[in-house]
Amino acid sequence: MIEYDPQRRIWLFSTPTTAYALGLDDDGTPRHVHWGRPLTLEQAAAVPRFRDPADSSFEHPRADRAELPVTGFGPSALQVRFPGGGQEIEWRYEGHAVDGGHLTILLRDRCHPLAVELHYRVHADVDVLERWTVLRHTGDGAPIELLRADSASWAVPHLAAYRLSHVTGAWGSEFRLRRDAAPGGETVLTSRRGVSGHHANPWVMIDDGAAGEEHGEVWSSALAWSGSWRITLHRSPAERLCWSGGFGHEGVTWRLEPGETLETPVFAGLYRPDGFGGTSRSWHAYIARHVLPAASESRPVLYNSWEATGWAVTEEGQKRLAGLAAEVGAELFVMDDGWFGARDSDEAGLGDWTPNPGKFPAGLDGLIAEVHRLGMRFGIWVEPEMVNPDSDLYRAHPDWVLRQPDRRRTLLRNQLVLDFGRPEVAAWAHDWLDRLVAGHAIDFLKWDMNRAFTEAGRPGTGDPGRVWIEHVRGVYEVMDRLRADHPRLRIEACAGGGGRVDLGVLRRTDEAWTSDNTDAVDRIAIQHGYGQIYPTRTMAAWVTDSPHFLTGRELPLRFRFHVAMAGVLGVGGDLSRWSAAERAEAAELVAIYKEIRPVVQHGVHHRLGEPPLTGAQYVADDRVVVLAWRLSSRFGAPPVPLRLRGLDPDARYRDDDTGAVHHGAVLLAHGLPLELPGTDHTSALVRLTRIA
Ligand code: GLA
Repeated sequence: MIEYDPQRRIWLFSTPTTAYALGLDDDGTPRHVHWGRPLTLEQAAAVPRFRDPADSSFEHPRADRAELPVTGFGPSALQVRFPGGGQEIEWRYEGHAVDGGHLTILLRDRCHPLAVELHYRVHADVDVLERWTVLRHTGDGAPIELLRADSASWAVPHLAAYRLSHVTGAWGSEFRLRRDAAPGGETVLTSRRGVSGHHANPWVMIDDGAAGEEHGEVWSSALAWSGSWRITLHRSPAERLCWSGGFGHEGVTWRLEPGETLETPVFAGLYRPDGFGGTSRSWHAYIARHVLPAASESRPVLYNSWEATGWAVTEEGQKRLAGLAAEVGAELFVMDDGWFGARDSDEAGLGDWTPNPGKFPAGLDGLIAEVHRLGMRFGIWVEPEMVNPDSDLYRAHPDWVLRQPDRRRTLLRNQLVLDFGRPEVAAWAHDWLDRLVAGHAIDFLKWDMNRAFTEAGRPGTGDPGRVWIEHVRGVYEVMDRLRADHPRLRIEACAGGGGRVDLGVLRRTDEAWTSDNTDAVDRIAIQHGYGQIYPTRTMAAWVTDSPHFLTGRELPLRFRFHVAMAGVLGVGGDLSRWSAAERAEAAELVAIYKEIRPVVQHGVHHRLGEPPLTGAQYVADDRVVVLAWRLSSRFGAPPVPLRLRGLDPDARYRDDDTGAVHHGAVLLAHGLPLELPGTDHTSALVRLTRIA
């Protein structure tokens, strides 16, 4: 998987279907060589070195195509300030080490005590290349200021045009896919909010403007980090495109003390020759095989009480909902916000993690026993990183929150952020979470995070930039310890919906709450964007009430289910307001979901169709599941068949429900006939089995 040519000082990574190569210049600068289709070492050595056509005194001779730019006029991946004011880095190559698919290149600055390791790791079963950087102060003098420490920089070959895909959004409208020409100059995608964000997500895809769902070359990369981040793309006047990315937004710095090491998160890259569909499927496979902690499990159908009760939680009310949830087939009952402290609204109680005595006079065990008696697992909502000023915790520890000296503390949702970078805060959180989980046999935590950072600082620290990074590390550490000590515990990542979904949080959680917006029409677009990188088995999707509380839209129960069945199905409506007929229909649909779950959650995902008729197809071994959604219809419009993907053209497929037999070749070329009624918001679920 890793080859090295010592004469030419070139390393070549070969993944199952792609290659990546880098080399060392005579002066020790690591230089990008190739990222794309497979090459041999000899071919990689023959890749012509790009030179800026102007080649003038206004270009930097060492800057171009650097593996991690530290100098020149484009965006720098590493920006340092040495004691005495020296800046930039002049590399000295010190050697390299290979351990299986992991290459470490050891470099040093020529005159300052800074050692840099460039890490690259490939796996035998996916095309993703993981990259990260380790910086070490090897001296004993003054600290080295790290003004920017990116994980990796990526460069694509020259393309006739450059198109950028990424997602934007907001609370309730996350993961909106954008696909636009990459502008000339620099484009910054970033989060300054302390979380990966609703408004953006730390990944990019680049193609030449002609790639489609199943064809065309696509280069992409995704960052494994759950806090603030920055990805800077640079489309140069010479029509070359590269980008650099890592943790922290501009201004987040790190003072590297003598002997100290800073390791950046992984910024993983993927080249695929088979379009956006192939790109997404490869990311899904990578996340399942190398990121998620328990990917081989199937995620249970959960019921969540939030939309039914809000803060009006009572033991009796929860038990009633649990009974109804069990009736429709839920396997996991999750009690949401409102169970602890003085939590009757969002104005108080966060931080006081003991059951509210008025709501649970005898504690949680009565409810948990009832949930277990009904045959379900029990989960509970927590928001460990937050505190309401109106709480006993804040009254005792007002100094535990992120804050700036002399500045107002901005309240968002009436809460402040606890500084998880402080060991005593992380220890406090671990302690109560550990007691909660162990003391009540809790199977599942919905770990929420409901406000962006403002005035983030830690008065008294000489290095204020650190809090942004240390907070995220503190959260990771608490999650990791809980998982290690409670191997059966499963965690849902949530930040006001999908505000913290990334490869970093998915390494220690099992699913993510995709959006607080559960309107099925809006969800089709949200889920479309989510699935560009993140796999179905992590995408929590609930069926809730109609009309919808945010949009007021009324939608058929079946349509709401068919949209949510394209993820990890849950139910989040007020079941006590559903009619007996609706609950019976829900129970039928939940039973069907359980039957198709192995295919949906563990199969290969293909996106289908174009609006107004779109869908999702999942293939696992001989089984195929198709979910189709048509938003609107027009009288007289001819029926549009949905063309399937990824099937064997020579095989035949039998419809499990009707017995009809289809040729794979016909399904691929002409599509699946769907008998949808002529109304709006119609949907279909088709199960096929390959028969020969
Ligand atoms: C966030 C979550 C919701 C719910 C509320 C509770 O908004 O995304 O699902 O848990 O908090 O306050």
